[in-house]
Amino acid sequence: MNSEQPIGIFDSGIGGLTIAAAINETLPNEQIIYFGDTQHLPYGDKSNKKILFYSDRIVEFLLKKKCKAIIIACNSASAIAYDFLEKKTHKKSLLFNVINPLIKYIEKDINIKNIGIIGTNATISSNVYQKSIKLTRKDINVKSLATPLLASLIEENNQKLYQKGIVETYLSDNTIKNIDTLVLGCTHYPLIESIISKYYNENVKILSSLNHIGNEVKQKLQQNKLLRFSQNKLKHNFYVSDYTSHFQQKTKLFFPSSIILKEENIF
Ligand code: DGL
Repeated sequence: MNSEQPIGIFDSGIGGLTIAAAINETLPNEQIIYFGDTQHLPYGDKSNKKILFYSDRIVEFLLKKKCKAIIIACNSASAIAYDFLEKKTHKKSLLFNVINPLIKYIEKDINIKNIGIIGTNATISSNVYQKSIKLTRKDINVKSLATPLLASLIEENNQKLYQKGIVETYLSDNTIKNIDTLVLGCTHYPLIESIISKYYNENVKILSSLNHIGNEVKQKLQQNKLLRFSQNKLKHNFYVSDYTSHFQQKTKLFFPSSIILKEENIF
């Protein structure tokens, strides 16, 4: 591995672009190769077997592109496929998920007493957040709720649908009542963080991996002498498994300079 190699990032759709944008901001000299598996979105409702299969193929693709680091920018795939992918990428690429950086933060924040986790069916039924938090913070009361419609709602981004109260219906569920902190356990959710904060009148701390992943990756690259210092910009590459002009439009939200989106059949 060497510092000139790119960083691979993948998700089922636009959620991972939030992570790609965060990486681009913290590590502006790095080249990003992004893969959005739009053909199989949403991942959160798929079986573990399928999520493993798709993640495996995408990582294969990113390894062929010689990525020195790969970020699983999807909580569902992080929850289900991380251990498997760690073996696959061993010594070929550094591997990151979007769950561990948040867990590290939660471990240290002594003000957290009652935490709620929202995410896809796959993430919530894996219990990954609950198990990891309880390892070091038995004092925290963890409550979780699957909010399966949110990722598709965010992909659709239809203002009228937001006004139907879908977000509020989920957040008012008794399961996640009386919390002081809410984890956005899906990389799509930061896109509606303002709606979520407003629901709680800004009285609940909202956590997402967006604010933590950049430093985590930077530190690991530094430790492994893989940080790229050259300011000679290398173009990011964006791939999807099913091209839509909708996705092309979305990339502009995060990367305003024109992006060439390529369809790649890797399955
Ligand atoms: N962005 C993915 C995650 O963080 C979820 C979207 C999906 O269900 O595909 O879990």
